Amino acid sequence: MEKLIVANWKMNKTDSEAEIFLKRFLDYEFKTNVKVCICPPSTSLNFVNMYIHENDYSGQVVLGGQNVNENCTGAYTGEVSIYMLKQFNVKYVIVGHSERKKYFFENDDIINKKISVIQLNDITPILCVGETHEEYKNKLTRKILANQLIGALKCATDNVVIAYEPIWAVGTGLLPSLADIDSTLHYIKQCVKQNFNFNVQVLYGGSLNSKNAGEILTLEHIDGALVGGASLDSEEFYKIIQS
Ligand code: 13P
Repeated sequence: MEKLIVANWKMNKTDSEAEIFLKRFLDYEFKTNVKVCICPPSTSLNFVNMYIHENDYSGQVVLGGQNVNENCTGAYTGEVSIYMLKQFNVKYVIVGHSERKKYFFENDDIINKKISVIQLNDITPILCVGETHEEYKNKLTRKILANQLIGALKCATDNVVIAYEPIWAVGTGLLPSLADIDSTLHYIKQCVKQNFNFNVQVLYGGSLNSKNAGEILTLEHIDGALVGGASLDSEEFYKIIQS
């Protein structure tokens, strides 16, 4: 099955920095069984979309949004709507990222609305779920993830990708054991199947880099990765894709 490798650039890169990345990155030959999705900041969606299309890479690389407002239009200063994302051929939108929960108070109610608005527009949400370190150490991961999945997917259809991102692994260099990652990814698939009766692709995210990608991306239940820091450098990100 084709693996989905997603670059979440977060609040990094201007258009000229994105151009430097793309020039190098798109020069590489990718493995054929990989789909690459780049999620730049919304200010660079136009530039990255144009670059990918003008250089004829749209078959290999698609575009994703890092966030969307749950409303389609209106007086929401500073926000980005799904119609705005659609202008740039966005295929995926990240929802429920732990940074959005922490800094922007994204909760289940908002996440449900965002997933609905994304799916109604034929775009695929990437829903992030993950536990704290305390919860991981106390073996509460499954309980926490079940609550997050059941809370977030109430109105969802089967067009959704789940990213398992332990909060304590994001940007820290810390990771769960390989066995724990694999069994948690398996659990997520089972939990969604049991509660909503559909199958989902599952990604792993959190301190994934070119050194550990090989062993993580060959785990039995993994369908891809959501990469933060290590997606900012074209060579590093390319090595992850080739793992
Ligand atoms: P890092 O890869 O920098 O740990 O970030 C992961 C992440 O948050 C991707 O969404």
